[in-house]
Amino acid sequence: MTVTESTPSVSVPDHIARQVVLPEGHREEQPLFAAYQWLRENAPLAKVHVEGYDPLWLVAKHADIMEIEKQPAVFPSGGGAKPGSHNPILQNQAGDAFTRSLTGGSLRILEAVPYLDPPEHTMVRNIAAEWFRPASLKRWEDRIRELAREAIAARLHPGPNDLDIVEGFALSYPLHVIMTLFGVPAEDEPRMMALTQDFFGTADPEAQRADVTPLTPEAAAQQWSAAIRDFYAYFDALVEARRAEPRDDLASIIANARRPDGELYPKEVAYGWFIAIATAGHDTTSTTLAGILEVLSQHPGQFARVKSDPSLIPGLIEEGLRWVSPVKHFVRQASQDYLLRGQQIAEGDRLMLLYQSANRDADVFEAPGEFRLDRKPNRQIAFGYGPHMCIGQHLSRLELRVMLEELLPRLVSLEITGDRKLLQTNFVGGLRRLPMRVELA
Ligand code: HEM
Repeated sequence: MTVTESTPSVSVPDHIARQVVLPEGHREEQPLFAAYQWLRENAPLAKVHVEGYDPLWLVAKHADIMEIEKQPAVFPSGGGAKPGSHNPILQNQAGDAFTRSLTGGSLRILEAVPYLDPPEHTMVRNIAAEWFRPASLKRWEDRIRELAREAIAARLHPGPNDLDIVEGFALSYPLHVIMTLFGVPAEDEPRMMALTQDFFGTADPEAQRADVTPLTPEAAAQQWSAAIRDFYAYFDALVEARRAEPRDDLASIIANARRPDGELYPKEVAYGWFIAIATAGHDTTSTTLAGILEVLSQHPGQFARVKSDPSLIPGLIEEGLRWVSPVKHFVRQASQDYLLRGQQIAEGDRLMLLYQSANRDADVFEAPGEFRLDRKPNRQIAFGYGPHMCIGQHLSRLELRVMLEELLPRLVSLEITGDRKLLQTNFVGGLRRLPMRVELA
């Protein structure tokens, strides 16, 4: 049963709340986007109670997400030190209980940036912030271009190619780029891929690990913590190796980072970074790439335009990010009472920031349901906002631009040949399967 506590008293129907909150509500795009639209139009900020979950506010509007995210003291992400911490990623009650049982009462399962708040967040984020700046990334552009060319050559041949554009093409390239720059050898990439999918796909029946019982909430939580354990074991060896022998890679920067007092950070901080990069660093970008190829196949006019004018590629990417929004939510928790959009948020209330909804907000985007590669301005919020705004955004744009610059001139046609399938998750995901015929010159 859904209970709405918003004023004016618009009750959020149970099916709308479940569609947005539950991972299985994200299996189909049409009802999900209809639910977002209903929220924006009828209850843009509404408190709901979906069975199995603690009550939470659904934040459907672009402006409200920005207002929340720019005030990390009022709306912290992780809520400070253990055990008062909370979870910036939505889990159900069983999942949260399981996490608490693992950590002794805290929901801060990782020492990773999404779980931290300023000033601790600022310090830890700064370890890698310089590396991720556009000026620093420039030196990797040629290497990324080589990797894009290799990815095309390995996966597509001249003439028609019938393939699943996700598994068969888009998935591997961003992983390969980030692992190469990070310093993980190519032979370990399948392991990173499997771990990431465990991490993000816990609610998708097709992504269940074999060593846990499928589909119960407890199993999803167990799968998550098993994935973290595996990551730790792998990354511990990496930290040791880079401390013993630093190289010109991101792993070395993180493994050897020192606190202001000159001491090395505890290894958990390095693990947290490694996991954040390994997980956030590729599914997001590959999903966006697959989504852009899908949408180009549906809009032959825009496909022809961008093919003949590569200067349109950056605009195509911004619109692709708006369109796909592969990160569906993060959660904040109010540290004090706060009045937002005429609603009284109480201290301790949790808020689910719905980026996909914000990116279809008609107050910000003209004709939000239309894909327009030359949309101007495009204030898409797919990378979030405020101090947690995606640190990988410039890398992701660079990867996408280079890939599209290499691919588009050779692309003769794109055609969808089968049914699409989405990853069943309310966190990070999008296309999981999309059969296509891709014709290369
Ligand atoms: C299309 C690609 C991507 C999208 C849409 C995306 C989206 C996001 C979003 C929405 C957030 C949360 C922002 C907030 O809380 O306001 C985030 C945070 C983050 N992203 Fe990305 N991301 C992408 C690619 C990447 C890449 C390539 C990397 C790294 C290689 C990365 C690393 C991170 C990290 C470490 C954080 C946490 C930052 C913090 O808490 O300070 N992301 N991303």
